[in-house]
Amino acid sequence: DKAEIGLIGLGTMGSNLALNIAEKGHRIAVYNRTPSRTDDFVAKAGALASRVVPCESLADLAAAIRPPRPIIIMVLAGTPVDEQIAALRGELAANDIIIDAGNANFRDTMRRFKELEGSGLTFIGMGVSGGEEGARHGPSIMVGGKEESWRRVESVLTAISAKFKGEPCAAWLGTDGAGHFVKTIHNGIEYADMQMIAEIYGILRDGLGMAPKEIGSVFADWNKGRLNSYLIEITAEVLKADDPQTGKPVVDIILDRAGQKGTGKWSVIEAQQLGIPATAIEAAVAARVLSSLKDERLAAERVYGGGVVPIKAPRETLLKQLELALFAGKIAAYAQGFAVMAGASKEFNWNLPMPTIAKIWRAGCIIRSQMLDTMVEAFGTGAASTNLLMAPDFVKMMQEAHPALRHVVALAMEAGSPVPALSSALAYFDSYRQGRGTSNLIQAQRDFFGAHGFERIGETGAFHGPWGQG
Ligand code: 6PG
Repeated sequence: DKAEIGLIGLGTMGSNLALNIAEKGHRIAVYNRTPSRTDDFVAKAGALASRVVPCESLADLAAAIRPPRPIIIMVLAGTPVDEQIAALRGELAANDIIIDAGNANFRDTMRRFKELEGSGLTFIGMGVSGGEEGARHGPSIMVGGKEESWRRVESVLTAISAKFKGEPCAAWLGTDGAGHFVKTIHNGIEYADMQMIAEIYGILRDGLGMAPKEIGSVFADWNKGRLNSYLIEITAEVLKADDPQTGKPVVDIILDRAGQKGTGKWSVIEAQQLGIPATAIEAAVAARVLSSLKDERLAAERVYGGGVVPIKAPRETLLKQLELALFAGKIAAYAQGFAVMAGASKEFNWNLPMPTIAKIWRAGCIIRSQMLDTMVEAFGTGAASTNLLMAPDFVKMMQEAHPALRHVVALAMEAGSPVPALSSALAYFDSYRQGRGTSNLIQAQRDFFGAHGFERIGETGAFHGPWGQG
């Protein structure tokens, strides 16, 4: 009995994805460079092992799958993917599909797609979100490649994906790099969302002097309301957990230095390349970088002092405002992420289906939240086609929430509690809604020192100022 699909790379994500595939009734051939890992995998697969074909070489793997073969690669993004593709090419035949399911840079995906063109093999770049749990029980799956390649793997991918009220969270989003690009922006929004949550945690911890468990309860409450989302839910759980070794709250023993693997940074780089402002995401990436400068921060604290001034405000009222502020910041971050995708869609001719993207983010992925359901509607009707902030449902939400964002940012800034993502989101909103901005002055300056010319209100053509006349 030949397998329907293959998978290379039995790390955490690969193993879980393979078990998920087997559980949905598909026979799967698996291969790992270190054979002991394959043995371990089979030993732990339990009853599902009957649908797993362990392979000792890529040749075995190719022989174990019924052609035309779909093979998922789940290895570290970067060179290992190129190495796997190169090794696989010798073993595969026309019409086989190589599917890269890692967090690849979409530019690499576009290159690989091109490199395989004409070889008879096809390539799919597939973004998978949802962490370990998602991979095992239902991730959100963002596919890029030829539509006919997607059609051939659609049934297995929809079977293993998360479901939102029965609808699968897997979709074909466009050619070549489209899937990995959308996954990258998903992660960009994820960075902004996490950073804004951390900023609110900072205000509660340092401004209000609340203990982790108390803060956890606040997040748990918020998860029942408009902020309902996976990230708020896990934040509440994280804040309530104790460290078995010391008995202290776990968050209190974790070093305040955040890592990153690249997707957030790529979102920002691409946003800049496309000329689309994504300030909340930029701030979140910068905040992770700053967090990594632990020793410098400690030294600076000794020079400047780093204490947050206690915030004196009635707690219940302030909590309500913090909730609304986070809500407003989150809307701005999504608006920016979708705007970047719209820009990329034009640039790379992907024709990205925004309502579908919002749909497949409603379950399985890390940024799943109640708000996404309203986005499906806003993009579906075209109401958000210029910017999410202009869709009537979101106008209503922002009108209610932005005063709280303003108040919270002002309060935090006064107290010295850093709020880079929230304040960037607010500045974006304020700039976006300012019909007459201040760039008239920038234009005048540019013309003054470089004779760059400016436009006059209500006239066409380039004009120069009367500079240098004393
Ligand atoms: C997801 C996550 C996942 C992973 C990222 C996080 O959607 O399931 O985004 O892909 O956790 O690698 O990125 P950092 O390691 O850069 O935080």
